[in-house]
Amino acid sequence: MFIVFEGIDGSGKSTQIFLLAKHLASLDKHIHILLTREPYKNREIREILKQNESPELRKEKLTELFIQDRKEHISDMILPNLDKRVIVISDRYKYSTIAYQGAQGQDINNLIEAQKDFPIPDFVFIIDTDVKTAFERMQKDSRTEQKFEKSYFFQDKVRKNYLKL
Ligand code: TYD
Repeated sequence: MFIVFEGIDGSGKSTQIFLLAKHLASLDKHIHILLTREPYKNREIREILKQNESPELRKEKLTELFIQDRKEHISDMILPNLDKRVIVISDRYKYSTIAYQGAQGQDINNLIEAQKDFPIPDFVFIIDTDVKTAFERMQKDSRTEQKFEKSYFFQDKVRKNYLKL
């Protein structure tokens, strides 16, 4: 089983992921679960996200990096574990690129098309949280602000893209 969690920054995805993993693990001692996340391992992505610049900038570069990074995530982690009947739970997947890079101004249909051959999850949970609540949570956690986390307007666009999806 391949399960994905999606949502805006501060939506509470990780809390829900841990609760689900705990629940699944309690059901049966023979169940094995892999918790994984995207961005997967490309360091350039994190460097760009740390830049203090407008969220609309560098949309082409980020699209390319996120999709390339996802290809590696699929071939290194997702598929080999699904083959071994491990339950794979991923914090973000291809819908993040559609919602976020779409909010940056990339064409949504192109983003869908570029990822159409990627495995389709059994379940996708989109945690829908209003932007105000998400911002309050991020402030409480004193999270280091990244490129996309600072702009209320941007997060609202991301949320609308998720709702469309
Ligand atoms: P994430 O690791 O979820 O945030 P954090 O490091 O704060 O826990 O993701 C980092 C940021 O990258 C987040 O703002 C969402 C964004 N993102 C995209 O824009 N496109 C993508 O394809 C992915 C996977 C993430």
